[in-house]
Amino acid sequence: MYSRIAGTGKYLPERILTNAELEGMVDTTDEWIRTRTGIERRHIAAEGEYTSDLALHASRQAIEDAQLTPADIDLIVVGTTTPDLVFPNVACLVQQKLGVPPVPAFSLEAACSGFVYALGVADQFVRGGQAKRALVIGAETMSRIVDWSDRETCVLFGDGAGAVVLEATDEPGVIYSNLGADGNQADLLYAASGVSRKASQTDGFGMLRMKGNEVFRFAVKTLERMVDEVIAENGLEKGEIDWLVPHQANIRIIQATAKRLGMSMDRVILTVQDHGNTSAASVPMALDSAIRDGRIKRGDLLLLEAFGGGFTWGASLIRY
Ligand code: UT7
Repeated sequence: MYSRIAGTGKYLPERILTNAELEGMVDTTDEWIRTRTGIERRHIAAEGEYTSDLALHASRQAIEDAQLTPADIDLIVVGTTTPDLVFPNVACLVQQKLGVPPVPAFSLEAACSGFVYALGVADQFVRGGQAKRALVIGAETMSRIVDWSDRETCVLFGDGAGAVVLEATDEPGVIYSNLGADGNQADLLYAASGVSRKASQTDGFGMLRMKGNEVFRFAVKTLERMVDEVIAENGLEKGEIDWLVPHQANIRIIQATAKRLGMSMDRVILTVQDHGNTSAASVPMALDSAIRDGRIKRGDLLLLEAFGGGFTWGASLIRY
């Protein structure tokens, strides 16, 4: 038993925040943001619009694309680091809003790697026979934890949601997942707001904090090592992967990973310019974009990858 992608969806909130607008908010320039990150704009959730609302839009699209109804879904897994509430978890909120019957529904926190983690977990449920049609979501409202006075981070992040429906099948599908983490680097990227540990002034009022340059170097090194493992452990030749669907944090990190894989940038799905770093939402949104515009076709071999706070990282090799 394997799982395959039966449908995809995505949602970006209406409000667009451009680099030019950010020039009026912090000491930055459109030129700096574009050349250092590739980002041109990001979307910001409206007041009263929460992570589960973004996830709901993306999920409706994915279920429709799979030619199913919410009643067909028998598992919901959400990767998010910006849940609406402490509990109920975002998956339960989506379940209620969609009208999915009582089935297992949970969220997991792995920051920017959240979707790749969620996909790996849902795939195990399907392979184990515990689910037949899993809704897997990456959804974030990063704008709610960004410090809008910190130019080193506020230019980077945005809000969005992506979703896929995984369906049981007898041919792969999801071929292989590679998940990893290193908690020793927690102080390089964190959001110091919590429940058990309250945010304090010295923590930075619960806002996202990042030592960008060090994270950058760790991300490039880790992703290079991970894609080497994917190639080796699956007996692949470098040219065999049709599309790289990377986490969209920084175009320069993506270029480094593509180079390691020997892939030209026209085989890489790049959406960072349109929405910045949307954490767990970025991989499923990129996937959905490239399927809908016809670049990714049935039968193509895809490599999804992500790296984020924790540190966490993950890759998923998929025959679409
Ligand atoms: O999603 C999960 C993980 N996150 C990431 O993967 C993000 C990883 N990091 C990055 O993408 C990059 O490190 C950044 C985009 C955050 C920064 O790019 P960088 O090339 O590493 O720049 P830097 O941090 O070395 O800073 C270079 C200069 C500094 O000025 P000085 O010290 O050289 O005078 C910064 O103060 O750029 C300055 N700077 C800015 N200037 C204009 C930092 N932020 C800005 C800004 N506008 N927004």
